[in-house]
Amino acid sequence: MEMGFDRILSALKAVGEETRLRILALFRTGELTVTELVTILRQSQPRVSRHLRLLCEAGLLERYREGTWIFYRLAEGGPEGDLARAIMKYIPFSEQILMHDGARLEEIKQERRGKANKYFSDNAENWDRIRTLYVSEDDVEKVLLDVTSDMKINDFLDVGTGTGRILEVFADRIGRGTGIDLSREMLAVARVNLEKANLHNCQVRQGDMYDLALNDGSMDLILIHQVLHFADDPCSALKETSRLLRKNGRVIVVDFAPHNLEYLRDEQAHRRLGFKDEEIMGWLNNVGLKSDPPIHLKGKDLDLSIWVANKTE
Ligand SMILES: C[S@@+](CC[C@H](N)C(=O)[O-])C[C@H]1O[C@@H](n2cnc3c(N)ncnc32)[C@H](O)[C@@H]1O
Repeated sequence: MEMGFDRILSALKAVGEETRLRILALFRTGELTVTELVTILRQSQPRVSRHLRLLCEAGLLERYREGTWIFYRLAEGGPEGDLARAIMKYIPFSEQILMHDGARLEEIKQERRGKANKYFSDNAENWDRIRTLYVSEDDVEKVLLDVTSDMKINDFLDVGTGTGRILEVFADRIGRGTGIDLSREMLAVARVNLEKANLHNCQVRQGDMYDLALNDGSMDLILIHQVLHFADDPCSALKETSRLLRKNGRVIVVDFAPHNLEYLRDEQAHRRLGFKDEEIMGWLNNVGLKSDPPIHLKGKDLDLSIWVANKTE
């Protein structure tokens, strides 16, 4: 797709500067806030903001506000987004300065992950009560069973399984169930729950949603229930699920609709304040899945959305 002489010139000018090329390189793995970029680049906030503005004006990055946080990410569609991704392929990540930036980015991610993990390790015992606070669990579980009633499910995966509730819901509909979670404490509670419920066809283990260490095309149904709002790169997590699905397999994402409960960031380590339908559907589409119209459920303070997508090829 051509992009016009002025547009390509302004995109190349924007990226043709050392700090801005470093910034672009940092978006290889997901979205970042200005504060995070300031920490990585060790430059003042006004300077970093100016570079970000130029990259956004040239169409290479996108900016979006959610509550008091402003996120930046690679432009999703359009020729500028394609150009940004094409440039990314040629960036020499082994260059010393980029290695340093990458190491600081990794530290930030570990810190972030540590916070979320601490929340879950501190609340593992209470999670089954906390998870019911927002939307009626029964309503959600009924929809999940309804939208999978047409399927024969041999292999089922629950990503971010927590205390294993979703495995329990599906246990008598599936051949084998696997739950994966980062938090050992949540998994310890899940093991007790599965044992108590006598669910011998389900097992849980520790793992990371970005790298699930399972074989390509090995799953019929994958659930990601209330997990993506902790992710700094939700699209990569969805890409990993797409890799694991068999042909005609299905992924179901359950998460909050956009909301303003900013305190959930501090108190429960949420990164995202819910998701718009188009955002999740766009990602599902980008990772090769065909999504159905989303389902919405009203909650007390928060509404919930359920996105269902199929692997048709
Ligand atoms: C809000 S809980 C939801 C648990 C469960 N799906 C449920 O609905 O009860 C989110 C879970 O995601 C897990 N999690 C967060 N980041 C993860 C990651 N990168 N990989 C795997 N699990 C992750 C947390 O440890 C936590 O157990």
